[in-house]
Amino acid sequence: MTYRYEKNVQTMNRASKVIPSGVYGHLGPAEGCMIPSSAYPNFITHAKGSEMWDVDGNRFIDFMCGYGPNVTGYCDPDVDAAAQKQIALGNCTTLPSHVMVDFAELLTDLVHKDWAFFCKNGGDVTSFAIMISRYYTGKKKIIFVNNYYHGVAPWTQHPDTPGTLYDDCKNALYVNWNDVEGLKKTIEENKEDIACFIATPYMHGNFVDNELPAEGYWQAVRKLCTDNGIILIVDDIRAGFRLSLEGSDTYFGFEADLITFCKALANGYNVSALCGKDFLKSAASTVPYTGSYWMSAVPFAAGIANLTKLKENNACAHFEAMGKRLTDGLLKTAGELDVPLIVSGPPALFYMRIEDEIGNFLLHQEWVAECVKRGVFITNHHNHFLNLSMTPELIDEAIEICSEGMKVMVNNHPEVFKK
Ligand SMILES: Cc1ncc(COP(=O)(O)O)c(C=O)c1O
Repeated sequence: MTYRYEKNVQTMNRASKVIPSGVYGHLGPAEGCMIPSSAYPNFITHAKGSEMWDVDGNRFIDFMCGYGPNVTGYCDPDVDAAAQKQIALGNCTTLPSHVMVDFAELLTDLVHKDWAFFCKNGGDVTSFAIMISRYYTGKKKIIFVNNYYHGVAPWTQHPDTPGTLYDDCKNALYVNWNDVEGLKKTIEENKEDIACFIATPYMHGNFVDNELPAEGYWQAVRKLCTDNGIILIVDDIRAGFRLSLEGSDTYFGFEADLITFCKALANGYNVSALCGKDFLKSAASTVPYTGSYWMSAVPFAAGIANLTKLKENNACAHFEAMGKRLTDGLLKTAGELDVPLIVSGPPALFYMRIEDEIGNFLLHQEWVAECVKRGVFITNHHNHFLNLSMTPELIDEAIEICSEGMKVMVNNHPEVFKK
């Protein structure tokens, strides 16, 4: 039996009348990330731990974790209790609560940086990092690594993106991941103009196999940046606190000048952070940057409880173990069925793709849809996430469901799977 989505469809019909695209961005069907849309639910009623229930009452084991924020588990009792306690004391107040300082102390200590600046979303802090770099260096160009995603601000886009101008992108330079020689050449050709190099700690682009840094890559990048007065920004919005609680620069053995955090910072309470080295603190104080909700206390209190819980439970080792158990199980089924499943990236943030003879990903898309219709929420375009509430039993249940989905996909394609 596969899931039916009558109430989801009704709710989507209502939504599309009053909300652009019904559900906007990649979480909705319009961007084409969830194809066929008939396989996917659109709205939930509630979530707990690692599971969510849609408006039709279907239950899903969720390996997208809100695309990152669910890190201790949905409705985590400890994080929610800290938030509730702070709600009773005040949230968005004229003067910030002292918990902002408590949070900054905890965070800077954990990630080995000298200061922390809080905003709401990932894009807020990547934008601030660019502004600080430009102000400090007096230079304008930004080096990006292809397949990047740093938010939706115009400076992150390409000129052909709707709503973006050519002028918004004219200071962008592009290099390939793990290509030190290409980076050297780009720096040489633009020597007087480069403010910063921004990259995620490993290449976790969408729709492509994810790539870890080659031996010595980050150390070479660090040296090139130092030698050429370029600010090194690590965008740890997605991978932060999933590989290491000390920041992914520490995990890969180098030191960023600026590092951004967001998704796993407060288990879904809305706060992001830019952390930096002392030499950039004065610039961070000078560039005008603030927002109506940026000093609200509830997310800070939740963040303190969240990071404390992650630390006490050795969370990153758990993510790695659960990710490995799941992907090993799926690779075993794939091996038995002769399905060319490729798993890439670190186990804590695994990316999957079924290789296809003609180089598209229709078989992969079909397998993922069969899994979703049976109660395992994975996606066909993005890395996945684990959380602290996941158990080996839950992982094994997911392997069983996804293996059944794989068998259905194989049976639908005798022309590909001849055995
Ligand atoms: C690496 C990275 N940078 C930046 C962002 C943007 O964060 P936000 O959507 O919170 O603005 C994301 C979001 O997925 C991300 O994964």
